[in-house]
Amino acid sequence: MSAPPKPEILLTKEEIEKQVARLAQEISRDYQGKYPLLLGILKGSFVFMADIIRLLEIPVEIDFVRLSSYGSSRVTSAKIKVVQGLHTPVKGRDVLVIEDIVDTGLTVGYFLDYLRKKRASSLKLCTLFNKPSRRIIPVPIDYLGLTIPNRFVVGYGLDYNERFRNLPDLYFVDGCS
Ligand code: IMP
Repeated sequence: MSAPPKPEILLTKEEIEKQVARLAQEISRDYQGKYPLLLGILKGSFVFMADIIRLLEIPVEIDFVRLSSYGSSRVTSAKIKVVQGLHTPVKGRDVLVIEDIVDTGLTVGYFLDYLRKKRASSLKLCTLFNKPSRRIIPVPIDYLGLTIPNRFVVGYGLDYNERFRNLPDLYFVDGCS
């Protein structure tokens, strides 16, 4: 296997933690008195989900779905598929989707459409990172960590060919977008 490209730091773990703490405060404030269902999109959101739920001041239920988008080729196909489905009933729940990064918008746009048909009481989206310059379909983001430049990033759960998810900071890797 060839050596992975050399990453260049974009955000330190302290800078990421600051955004996660701010988002947790906003969510705790807005969902006061409620018991939202947080739905994470695997695999990228697992680190963000693990960190944000421990900062929330409200009770939450969590579940994960796995959608196919990038695969190892890093090319977003217009066809998104549910690979591992949702097991928690959504009808009547306050649903908050937790995403690592919105890029073209195809993945989370598909998932929000899928959830709308399931008659949740409310449906919102929280994403840690946003790359609006590559958007193909509009996606309403209710809670946003940071907008980042149009370059491929890894670390804090995000991968390049399944590598780098374990890095605590966020890095650019060239030649991957
Ligand atoms: P979208 O469908 O193009 O919005 O892509 C969303 C998914 O693609 C995310 O959940 C990530 O898994 C992946 N993705 C998009 N941009 C990046 C990136 O810069 N690094 C790693 N994964 C990314």
